[in-house]
Order: sequence, then C-alpha cells, then structure tokens
Amino acid sequence: MSETGNGRKNWTRVVAAVGLVFLAVAGGIVLANANKVINKTEKKDEETPLISIGFSQVGAESEWRTGNSISIKTTFSQKRGYDLIFKDAQQQQEQQIKAIRGFIQQDVNYIVLAPVVETGWDTVLKEAKKAKIPVIIADRQVKVKDDSLYTTWVGADFYQEGQKACSWMEQYAERNKKKTLNIVHIMGTEGATAQIGRTKALEEATKKNGWNILEQQTGAFTQAKSHEVMEEYLKKYKDIDMVYCENDSEALGAINAIEQAGKKVGTDGIQIISFDATREGLAEVQNGKIAVDVECNPDFGKKIEKIIKQLEYKRDVNKEYYIGDKIYTQNKSISTIEIEKAKWSVTVVTDKIVKERVY
Ligand code: AHR
Repeated sequence: MSETGNGRKNWTRVVAAVGLVFLAVAGGIVLANANKVINKTEKKDEETPLISIGFSQVGAESEWRTGNSISIKTTFSQKRGYDLIFKDAQQQQEQQIKAIRGFIQQDVNYIVLAPVVETGWDTVLKEAKKAKIPVIIADRQVKVKDDSLYTTWVGADFYQEGQKACSWMEQYAERNKKKTLNIVHIMGTEGATAQIGRTKALEEATKKNGWNILEQQTGAFTQAKSHEVMEEYLKKYKDIDMVYCENDSEALGAINAIEQAGKKVGTDGIQIISFDATREGLAEVQNGKIAVDVECNPDFGKKIEKIIKQLEYKRDVNKEYYIGDKIYTQNKSISTIEIEKAKWSVTVVTDKIVKERVY
C-alpha cells in the first residue's frame, strides 16, 4: 500500500467528517465536496466516518460461497463502521472488472477482490493502483506481472488441500489392496486457484501411484453442472471406483446422479472425495456418502478486517495469509494424513459438528 494513498484517504475522511457536521446543520441535505461525494449511508451521531469497501464476489455458485458472502457482509456492516458495496459477478470476470472500475470511480477506501480466475487482472489493478486504492485479494489468487498491484492475499492452500485428499486415497487403496483406482474427475471452474491446486495434487498422485483418471470435465463448482457431468460419466464408464469432486456442491450433484442411476455411493459402491466441509457436505460424510471432505474455511471476513485495521494504522502487512483447514471422515479407519513428513489428524464428523457448522 502506498503512503500517499493512505494520506489521501485520511484527508478524504477529514473532508467527510467536516461534511457530516455540515449535514447535521443543514438538516440532512447531502453535500458534495470538490470531487468527493459524501456517503449518504454514513453513520450519524458518531465522529468516525465509515470506511468504504468495494467487495467484488465471484458469485453464488456454492454453499461455500454463500457462507463466504455472509462472513463478509456481517463483518463489514454499518454498525461495525463500514460502508460495504457488495457486487456479485455471477462467475464472470468482465463483471468483476466492471465492479472494480465502479469502486475506483466511487473512490472507496479499500477494494477486496475474490477473483473468479487467476489471470487477466493486470490492467484493472493498475487502474486501482493509480487511484491509490489498496486492493486485498481474497480466496483465490491473482497472477499479475507486478505483485505491487495488490496489497495482500487471504485464502486457503488449495494444492495442500488436494494433497490431503490424495493421501487419504493412497491409504484407502493400500488398505483395500487396490493396485489401481479408476477415477472420474469433476473439476471446479477452470483457471481458478481452487481448481488449479486441487487438480495438480490429483494429477501428481495419479502419476505417482499408477492410478487411472478415466476423464476430467468441469462441474463449475456447481451442483447442477456436476450432476450433468456425472450422468455422462456413468453412461460411459462401468468401472468407476472414485469421483474426485472439487467441492461439496459438485459432490452433492454427483451423489444424486449416481443414486438416480440406481448405483450405490460409499464403501460398497462409488467413493466420493470432496472439499469445503459445508454443513450439507459434512452430513453426507456422516451418512457415509462422502468418504473424505477436506475443509476450506470461507469465514475469513474478520481476518480481512484485521488487515484493514493494520493498514488504517499504517502498519505493515504480510503479502499472504493462509487459512487453516481440517480433514473430515466418517470414522477413524484412516486416522492420519501425511504429506512429506507433516502430519494431520483426521476429525470424525459428529452431530455436534454438523449442527454447529454455519455454512
Ligand atoms: O475458491 C474456493 C472454492 O470456490 C470453494 O471450494 C468452492 O466451493 C467455491 O465455489
């Protein structure tokens, strides 16, 4: 974040505060100062003006995403001192670029971008930098030539999530004396960090263990698309051992398609691998329909707030912040996940865990 940027924003807030006093005197008449429009939504009866945040969300493709939007909206509420401009891009990068340009025009204090894909952000982020608006990247990552175009990133290690799932698959194959696994792969949105990382882990493990990926297609992280893809797979392949779904919405779509085709899911049928650990996903782990569900925690609104507070106090922030995640199964038959000597213990899903899950 540039210092000039902060100075300019602080000046903007001073101007806004003066404007508020004026507002009170003028009985609610909205005033504009030079090029700065004072927010109509600013908190009354308080001295500190709201911090304005433009948040560009990917869409509402999954339960995970809905949980993430709730986390952002509840954190950045007016009551808590923020003026949040929330834009849902319906999974379209052009919509996100348009939203960012709008935030720049409105001269928000911060832009938070949850990018649909990794590439294609250089131009618009240069525009944000030129306007001296700090950009925080959330969830998936961006690949830009100059990483000073954004201030920091907060999200999960998607590649490691995939490695955790693959470690479980390796142990499963070993215990069940399976020389190979016939896997169908339902990918997430192509080009999204979550897809890239989880896919890379599967492809590496497949090579290492001599597994067989029968086919790979995108399910766009949605239940509906995944259902379609799974129906197609079931018509083509009679010997599927596992479906590697890249999130719970896809897992639910695949389970549905398998059961509608009169086949079984679980230990005596087709095994489902999944990510996210949403409430619905965890319930299916408990029912034995999802074999392993690697958590991806969407509740990072407060983490972003902490970063913004640090920036407000002109403190340095890290370039990246990783959100930790657990591994959920129905029982402890495989109790430890190991990746290059690092170990994680597996959590068995209980009623309490399902009930307390907020997304
Ligand atoms: O980028 C995170 C992924 O995006 C989550 O796993 C998925 O559910 C969401 O749509």
